[in-house]
Amino acid sequence: MANRAPQPQPGILDISPYIPGESEVPGGLKPIKLSSNETPLGPSPKAVAAYKAAAEHLDRYPDGAATALRNAIARQYGLDPERIVCGCGSDELINLIAHAYVGPGDESVYSEHGFLMYRIATLSSGGKPVAAPERAYRADVDAMLERVTPRTKLVFLANPNNPTGTYIPHDEVRRLHKGLPAHTLLVLDAAYSEYVRRNDYEAGLELVATTENTVMTRTFSKIYGLAALRLGWAYCPAAVADVLNRVRGPFNVSAPAIAAGVAALEDKAHVETAVAHNEKWLPWVTAEVEKIGLEVTPSIGNFVLIHFPSEKNAAAADAHLKARGIILRRVAAYGLPSCLRMTIGTEDDNRKVVAALAQFMGRPKERS
Ligand SMILES: Cc1ncc(COP(=O)(O)O)c(C=O)c1O
Repeated sequence: MANRAPQPQPGILDISPYIPGESEVPGGLKPIKLSSNETPLGPSPKAVAAYKAAAEHLDRYPDGAATALRNAIARQYGLDPERIVCGCGSDELINLIAHAYVGPGDESVYSEHGFLMYRIATLSSGGKPVAAPERAYRADVDAMLERVTPRTKLVFLANPNNPTGTYIPHDEVRRLHKGLPAHTLLVLDAAYSEYVRRNDYEAGLELVATTENTVMTRTFSKIYGLAALRLGWAYCPAAVADVLNRVRGPFNVSAPAIAAGVAALEDKAHVETAVAHNEKWLPWVTAEVEKIGLEVTPSIGNFVLIHFPSEKNAAAADAHLKARGIILRRVAAYGLPSCLRMTIGTEDDNRKVVAALAQFMGRPKERS
């Protein structure tokens, strides 16, 4: 007899569900959670106040166009607000883009250790995900271009990439764009761009402004510390903004999120403090972990990818850390089974992780 149970669309059952960073450790210890690249500084107090004030009006639907937030973003970056689309996290925008541009038989290209949502969003739209090999954990523009076919509708690039922390300079991003056919949309995912302090880096604004087939996505979940609110935005060519506005939910961003997002953008001092914290502790963590004898991929984000040798592997390190209340991120799902990803935390947390790793490697270290 034919299977009468409801069947999802082809591709859906090929999706391995996204597993978020863990947040609990055994034994009821208060965890040091460095598994989701959240800011150790918390949200701006001004964003929290705006969120609380918005709680007085929970009976009202939000402004479906998120006008105040789009205008605030436009002011901050000198953009056309009509070309900004807000979403329930940048995850939603990635999904909407795939939903709108990828169909059965179409392909999306991304790099080998690229952010997992590109594969998930492509499969859920019935498309075929195509991963291009990286070089030294960095996106390889030639390898990506070699995999572009007439069926390639999207090319995703997280710059900097999660979980590797590496980036490609703007001239390489331009070369990637130049090699694409006009019908292929380049999606530049700049979730960590606020942390980047490199002269050769550009988040994507220039390419979006000057081409018809580039979109840049951003998030309030990382440096702005609003991950719980689910808020992201995309800067798009006018035609792409029009498409996303047709497929998104009419109220896809909540009123408290809009209010908190506007206040967070205005609190520039909070963002600067977060950048300064990262500028200090990213190099410190990198150097200290290397001193223990572990390899660290050079990162420009707020996290580092730590490589473990086979005799002291990532699973054992993870268990050792968890027993001490420390949660880093396993990244086997990214094709990196011998690595853990560590978010840069508070000074105290960073020191505790380094000490625990040193102990794990049998190299208890002096305090520094
Ligand atoms: C590269 C990258 N893009 C997008 C996201 C999703 O962020 P959001 O919280 O805005 O959905 C993340 C979150 O980890 C990320 O690392």
